[in-house]
Amino acid sequence: MEYKVTLIPGDGIGPEIVREARKVLDKVGERFGHTFHYTEILMGGASIDACGVPLTEEAIAKAKAGDSVLLGAVGGNVGQSNWYQLPPDLRPEAGLLKIRKELGLFCNLRPAVLFRQLKNACPLKDELIGDGFDFVVVRELTGGVYFGPRETKTENGIRKAVDTMPYDENEIKRIARWAFDVAMKRNKRVCSVDKANVLDTSRLWRQVVREVSAEYPEVELTDMLVDNCAMQMVKDPRQFDVVLTENMFGDILSDEASMVTGSIGMLASASLGETKLGLYEPSHGSAPDIAGQDKANPIATILSAAMMLRYSFDLIREADAVEEAINRVLDQGFRTIDIMSEGCTLVGTAQMGDRIAAEL
Ligand code: IPM
Ligand code: MG
Repeated sequence: MEYKVTLIPGDGIGPEIVREARKVLDKVGERFGHTFHYTEILMGGASIDACGVPLTEEAIAKAKAGDSVLLGAVGGNVGQSNWYQLPPDLRPEAGLLKIRKELGLFCNLRPAVLFRQLKNACPLKDELIGDGFDFVVVRELTGGVYFGPRETKTENGIRKAVDTMPYDENEIKRIARWAFDVAMKRNKRVCSVDKANVLDTSRLWRQVVREVSAEYPEVELTDMLVDNCAMQMVKDPRQFDVVLTENMFGDILSDEASMVTGSIGMLASASLGETKLGLYEPSHGSAPDIAGQDKANPIATILSAAMMLRYSFDLIREADAVEEAINRVLDQGFRTIDIMSEGCTLVGTAQMGDRIAAEL
């Protein structure tokens, strides 16, 4: 088959890690008889420098014309980069929010998996880890406080800012269905996270999720308050299977989830909507401090490409093959600096990509 993949190298380490993912995709194509056609678009700081805005209409049109999008990372060093002197809607991250909205990607899947080879990197005590954990955060991605009306003004000489967090029942229903569908393919447990003891949106969320759960009698639904959830993730991460939550809680909890695995350079993510067109990106950021030094770990991006094969193209065997190749390279002891430990062999970004491609 032929697939049109839109690549967004982005900023910082983005170009290096996307290059390695492309290498691996090409190898998948060779081995399984597919052709991936690539189109590159600019987003984030790279687009600001070239076009004055973090995402152009042409770039959006190109992304919509393709079958799927693979993103490296966007953004720079907030304290240092001139991008952050711009008004907020012209900064690099605004490009990311815009593409999510424009492509209708309301569902963000962020797996938090402990790789057995990297157990040492996990900051939790052995007795908490047991034989590992594997859960996924399902984050609502195009609603809530990220997209609600906001304003900064001065009233009677007092500076004031307001952000609002709107949700309607349809937005909650569709993300809840995603979570239950994902749970049906896993261990059939959904933990819905909210702040229903304070927020109206959360009270509606809880009610609607409960209603949707009636369509999934096999899935066990629990509710948890977000502050408690933040605590439970470090106290007993093994209790979770699917964690369903709204946009901002999901932003925060998914960073926490990736941190407890100890290997943020290893975690992929997928943003999906009603169609097969998805946006796949590593869970980590653009790491400007190590950009261009062949130090970045490309595995999260390669795993994101594997998620793309699985979710957008239904290429299950191919996705499995990529994941197995990564596991073999880790078993052989090759590590980038972020996951390096004693007795292993240090490799750079490109060499890690080469090794994974060679294992295919
Ligand atoms: C993420 C990031 C983005 C978000 C930023 C860069 C706008 O933190 O994907 O989690 O908050 O959604
Ligand atoms: Mg985040």
